[in-house]
Amino acid sequence: MTHFLSSGLNEKGAMSYSGDGIFYLKLTYKMHKNNDEMIRVNHAGEYGATRIYAGQLFVLGDDFTISHMAKQEAEHLHNFQRMLVERRVRPSLLQPFWYIGGFMMGALTAAMGRNVAHACTAAVETVIDAHYSDQLIRLEKDGVIETTHDAELVDLITQCHADECAHRQIAERESGVNLAATYPILTGVIKAITATAIKVAKRV
Ligand SMILES: [Fe+2]
Ligand SMILES: [Fe+2]
Repeated sequence: MTHFLSSGLNEKGAMSYSGDGIFYLKLTYKMHKNNDEMIRVNHAGEYGATRIYAGQLFVLGDDFTISHMAKQEAEHLHNFQRMLVERRVRPSLLQPFWYIGGFMMGALTAAMGRNVAHACTAAVETVIDAHYSDQLIRLEKDGVIETTHDAELVDLITQCHADECAHRQIAERESGVNLAATYPILTGVIKAITATAIKVAKRV
């Protein structure tokens, strides 16, 4: 499939290319803004995730399963960090807050037990699963997936989404209990905190 941004902005601000008439490519300023916003919030989220696992490992010591997930988060963060720099996207201004808040969340839950640490992971990853799913739906709706104009971002989000879903499954399996049923309040609070952090990091 051929696509090339050769035409200018039309009166609606949409850049279109008809090529041989098979498809139109709409690349608006708003779409760029959306993609940048996704990179900012994902970078902040992956940064927070590495800090949650750092807090858990600080309390629990060397834990193979948690270390494995932490390594994947470090990789996610590395990739979003690179994208952030290459595209000159402003990072979240609340980095110090994610640094401390993430670590505290990981350390405090781990201090309550390995099960609780996994309950925390499962709750966070449930929200992150929905978050990345929403982004992929958005990218689909914006035509970014079809036109493959930003395959790099789509591929990274798809990869992170798959890894986060796996993390949730690992956390649920490792704990050996129904975490949401065993820790309903904790799960609810952590989900609310994560959802709020996502909303904030989109803009600040
Ligand atoms: Fe991640
Ligand atoms: Fe994760």
